[in-house]
Formats: sequence, structure tokens, C-alpha cells
Amino acid sequence: MKTGQPFSRREFLKTTGGALSLFTVATHLSLALANATEGGPQRVKRNSAPIRRLLDEMEAKGYQFLSVPRKDGELLYFIAKATRSRNVLEVGTSHGFSAIWLGLALEETDGRLTTIEIDKERYDLARRNVKEAGLSRRITCIRGDAHVEVTKLEGPFDFIFLDADKEGQMDYFSKLFPKKLVPGGILAVHNAIRQAHSMKDYLDMIQKHPDFDTVILSATMDDGFCLSYRHRVS
Ligand SMILES: C[S@@+](CC[C@H](N)C(=O)[O-])C[C@H]1O[C@@H](n2cnc3c(N)ncnc32)[C@H](O)[C@@H]1O
Repeated sequence: MKTGQPFSRREFLKTTGGALSLFTVATHLSLALANATEGGPQRVKRNSAPIRRLLDEMEAKGYQFLSVPRKDGELLYFIAKATRSRNVLEVGTSHGFSAIWLGLALEETDGRLTTIEIDKERYDLARRNVKEAGLSRRITCIRGDAHVEVTKLEGPFDFIFLDADKEGQMDYFSKLFPKKLVPGGILAVHNAIRQAHSMKDYLDMIQKHPDFDTVILSATMDDGFCLSYRHRVS
């Protein structure tokens, strides 16, 4: 087309069509960016009906799968969210009950969870449950012996939850601290009341450790967590 001449209908449509599609792409892009910043449009919500149903079903099988009580799941969710944790490690997935609670918090902080399970059937089941929860993009399940697997993980993590073999806490600690837990990070150990005898060495050590503040916290009045906060400056 020569300058100064009016647009033909076809040229007009071509030009405005191009501009419109550019506009559409730009709009989609900015929506995608906005969604990414806000955690995305498909954010899995803690109180949605499918999540409530899944958590109810999993809670009903909790005894069989040794999962944390619901109140402890809620506490894990609360801590991960309140600390704005974005890189979380769980040792001992079982069927994925606590992993899903953590995953729900990570939907809000835009974080990731790595969780390790030694038992093949539980690992398979956890992956199915995580998928059903819609949290596969947040949660990576690893199958293997966590005493070995943690050494392969890069980290560092800002929240570590130990809930596997209770006698193994000292070994996990020596493999994760100091490199794989950030200063300001949280280390949570489950069954610190009912199974305190199985991790006495760990509990004695961590409560005296100069780099940590430690509390024993119970949400159930029955059992609870040993929660340790790593000082930002040692
Ligand atoms: C108490 S259950 C975990 C419950 C889970 N955190 C929840 O609340 O849903 C402990 C799990 O740790 C697994 N486990 C035990 N020793 C392990 C190890 N060395 N490496 C990885 N997983 C292990 C067990 O197979 C079991 O499924």
C-alpha cells in the first residue's frame, strides 16, 4: 500500500486483526504473569470440597498409614504458611497426608515440597493422592531410603519435617545441618512426646544446641512436635 492512500477493507482487517491478536497475546501474557504472581488461577484451596473429601478419606485411614493427626496436619500447614516457606523437605511420606497439608500451604507461598518414602506401596499411593489433590506441581515424591536420599538433595530447605524412623533423627540431622537448612529455617520432628524415648539422643542434643531455639509443642494434648528454629546469626 502506498502512503496517503486509504486502506482497502482487506488491508484494514489484516492490520487491525494483527493489532488485535497482538493485544490478545499481551492480555493473556499479563494475566498469566499476574496469575503467576498470585499463585495461579488453579490454586488448590484448603477448604474446597474435593480437598476436604480427600483429607477426610485419608484421615479415616490415618491409623493404618501412621499419618499425623489432623490437628498436626493443620499445624504443619500453619507453620509453613506463617514462615512463608518455599522449599520444604519431608522425610517419611506414607500415603501423603502431611505432604498434602504442606502442599496446600505451598500453594499460597508458591513453594515446593520434596518428600521421601522407602516403602513402594506407600510411595505409589502417596503419588496417587497428591495427584488427586491437584498438587503434583508442588510436591515431588522420592522413593528410597531417606538416609541416602537426603545426601543427594541440594537444598537448602527453609522447613524440614522429619517423620520416618525415630531412631534416625541424629543421622538425618548430621546430614542436613548446617548446609541444607537455611539460617532462619525450621526443623520439625514428629512424635517428640510419645516416642521421646526413641529419639532421646536427638532431643537432648537439639535442646542444648547453640544454633537453635527449641520447643516441644502439642496440638493434640497427646503427642507433638519438637520444633527448632535455626538462628539467623550463630
Ligand atoms: C509416621 S509415617 C509418615 C506419616 C506421614 N508423614 C503423614 O503424616 O502422612 C513414617 C513413614 O516413614 C517411612 N520410613 C521409615 N523409614 C524410612 C527411611 N529410612 N526412609 C524413608 N522413609 C522411611 C515409613 O515407611 C512410613 O511410611
